Amino acid sequence: MGIFRWITAGESHGQGVLAVLEGVPKGLALDVAAVDAALSRRQRGYGRGQRMQLECDAVSVLSGMKRGLTLGSPLTLLIKNRDERIDQYRTLTRPRPGHADLAGALKYDTHDCAEVMERASARETAARVAAGAVAAQVLRCVDIDVLAMVDSIGAVHFEVPDGPMAALRESVLASQFGAADPMQAAAAQSAVDAARESRDTLGGTFLVRATGCPAGLGSPMQWHERLDGRLAQALVSIPGIKGVEFGLGFGAAATGGRSCHDPIFWGPEAGFVRGSNHAGGIEGGMSNGSDIVLRAAMKPIPTLPDGLPSVDLVNGNPAPGVYERSDVCSVPAASVVGEAMVALTLLETLTECVESTTMALLETSTKGMRARHLGFMRNAKLSAGD
Ligand SMILES: Cc1cc2nc3c(=O)[nH]c(=O)nc-3n(C[C@H](O)[C@H](O)[C@H](O)COP(=O)(O)O)c2cc1C
Repeated sequence: MGIFRWITAGESHGQGVLAVLEGVPKGLALDVAAVDAALSRRQRGYGRGQRMQLECDAVSVLSGMKRGLTLGSPLTLLIKNRDERIDQYRTLTRPRPGHADLAGALKYDTHDCAEVMERASARETAARVAAGAVAAQVLRCVDIDVLAMVDSIGAVHFEVPDGPMAALRESVLASQFGAADPMQAAAAQSAVDAARESRDTLGGTFLVRATGCPAGLGSPMQWHERLDGRLAQALVSIPGIKGVEFGLGFGAAATGGRSCHDPIFWGPEAGFVRGSNHAGGIEGGMSNGSDIVLRAAMKPIPTLPDGLPSVDLVNGNPAPGVYERSDVCSVPAASVVGEAMVALTLLETLTECVESTTMALLETSTKGMRARHLGFMRNAKLSAGD
């Protein structure tokens, strides 16, 4: 009871996509315009296709609010589709390699890949972004801030500067690649243009940073409670995401233990601090109080203008995979979905640790958790008879 949970519903060409959020604390003054801003950020980004020019996403709150405040009841968010034509949509019988088409046709016993695509396509991620924007607003009230930044498009790498989240956010929002480093924008633009001209597509990577997380989110007690496992699932569940790493990530495998692990210091004012953050803020399946830092890798878009080698499901004859209007590169959009998924997962794990029936309770109990961690050494001395 009270633990935050959410699901989505809706098809790509149905009436719209929805998210139902359970356990949003009562008393949040939901900023609906901020949810719309997150939706619009998902639609922008250099390399996105025609559908994004067609859709202009806006959220309607169907339940869970009264006079601008959340009620503590399930919050239902609807984003209507402009491209609503599910019953008229053509039958697609040439599965695209790299997409859900063939596996879904076999699983759901259909020769029409469009039936599978309705849900497997990334349109569903609009509902996640709306839900994530609500979660982010709750988290911000307890000083937890989450931001995604693109750090590569194809072979072009962006710097990820350190610095306050507000400044990073400003740069990310100003960038058509969702990157905090403006220096590589021209190179990335050329890479996307070259892919488009050669009728190809591009992938890339993004980083998500969360600041202000108290230690102890997640748990080592069961495999499915571990925070790193939950965040990894949250990111890999985004269509097209094929890899996730925390902190040093795969680089840690080639590093010695002495230089890899983050030294622990303590001071009466600051409490526990770490000399570095190679762990990406998670040890033993729990947040450790440092910033949470993770990266995700996205494969290139599998819908290509000329279609990849495939067969027609009706007769087994060779035929190129079907072409639907499509993005050349969706990494900036995927990073916005990644930010939402991290916010949703952090709110889930926070509400497992603190009282969250109302915003006031969430704020006081999160404050209490932080105060307990700061007072930890004093308490240890007291219990040791000091
Ligand atoms: C925001 C976003 C937008 C996407 N846009 C497209 C697209 O326009 N065309 C396409 O073929 N795939 C697109 N994808 C990727 C596919 O949805 C994904 O590659 C496909 O579902 C199979 O990936 P999977 O094997 O990880 O499920 C997009 C993904 C995201 C996250």
